[in-house]
Amino acid sequence: MSRPTLWLRCEKKEFERRSALTPTTAKKLIDAGFDIIVERDDQRIFDDAEFEAVGCKLVENNSWPSAPKEIPIIGLKELPVSTEPLPHTHIQFAHCYKTQAGWSSVLARFHNGGGTLYDLEFLTDESGRRVAAFGYHAGFAGAAAGALALASQKKGKKLGKLEPYANETEMVEAVKAALGGTGKGVKALVIGALGRCGRGAVDLFKKIGLEEDDILKWDMAETAKGGPFQEILDVDIFVNCIYLSSPIPHFLTHKQIDAAGKDRQLAVVVDVSCDTTNPHNPIPIYNINTTFSNPTVPVEVGEGNPSMTVISIDHLPTLLPREASEQFSSDLLPSLLQLPSRQTARVWTDAEKLYKEKLALAVKAEGL
Ligand SMILES: NC(=O)c1ccc[n+]([C@@H]2O[C@H](COP(=O)([O-])OP(=O)(O)OC[C@H]3O[C@@H](n4cnc5c(N)ncnc54)[C@H](O)[C@@H]3O)[C@@H](O)[C@H]2O)c1
Repeated sequence: MSRPTLWLRCEKKEFERRSALTPTTAKKLIDAGFDIIVERDDQRIFDDAEFEAVGCKLVENNSWPSAPKEIPIIGLKELPVSTEPLPHTHIQFAHCYKTQAGWSSVLARFHNGGGTLYDLEFLTDESGRRVAAFGYHAGFAGAAAGALALASQKKGKKLGKLEPYANETEMVEAVKAALGGTGKGVKALVIGALGRCGRGAVDLFKKIGLEEDDILKWDMAETAKGGPFQEILDVDIFVNCIYLSSPIPHFLTHKQIDAAGKDRQLAVVVDVSCDTTNPHNPIPIYNINTTFSNPTVPVEVGEGNPSMTVISIDHLPTLLPREASEQFSSDLLPSLLQLPSRQTARVWTDAEKLYKEKLALAVKAEGL
């Protein structure tokens, strides 16, 4: 019997340095009997040589369209827009199941080619929780960006362009240096602290030196009393990491900020949740997503009051491509190991069932 094989394709989305497979997880798959084919990719945070060293077979960049049809192709982000039919099985984030712009034309490519899509966002365990997600490093990087913005604001400056860090240690050291050697003395409040993003934010604050008592960790129990919350105004950095699933009272409002005037401690809000355009956004004090080039947006605070900014970047894990990839890929590994039995393994049969439902909707929408 031939060995199960997976093909790691290159990423074509600008700035995307993360990877669905890492040298670590590729080695584990090889040890479990897989052949792993890896496209050369300068954009990826891992060097091609790191994959070669663990026994992967290297192939040309973007050569997956000519791969044998029976080999599943794994990648992270969506493929470049095209109408080319897709005959392979693809494992990736496709962003086409929630009627996003262009959703039906993406699925039409699979219909026309006879391929299959397993969307990484919808690989779930028995309880419906995602098997792999990037939340932890989103929170970690978001908290770091918040601390950097605070350091800049203290010097009367605006935070400049953010660039991906080679690794977590480099990020932690850069944030500590910006704060004059340590974050000790800074106060932070994380809401959604028990979730993936929230745990990452709390860990960053610990690593840069905040005192345990200066990191307020709130989740459902603490917000049950209903906002807005004065406590948010009394810290330097507020990081929102909740998963918004239903309308809730606002956490923070312009009215509160106006009323606090010069007595406000709060200088930076990091909205990791980024429900920016959601009508139920619990932080209705800003209305755009910020970017790595321009990470902060000022909040209207009234003449003579201390400045305040919001960071609302929706792809924060890109700031830590190595660790974010390692964590995501290792969480995905148990499911990948079941790929050879994808006709019966629940995680894959559920994902295929969902794909077929969405495909049927797309076929109708496109009149195919
Ligand atoms: N900005 C980015 O780059 C980025 C990256 C990944 C995820 N996200 C977003 O971050 C959000 C959180 O993702 P996650 O993976 O951490 O989710 P999660 O489900 O692991 O955690 C969410 C946490 O929020 C808590 N929560 C929900 N409603 C709350 C409320 N009203 N008050 C207090 N706590 C509340 C939950 O109890 C849970 O602990 C999602 O909206 C996700 O889309 C953003």
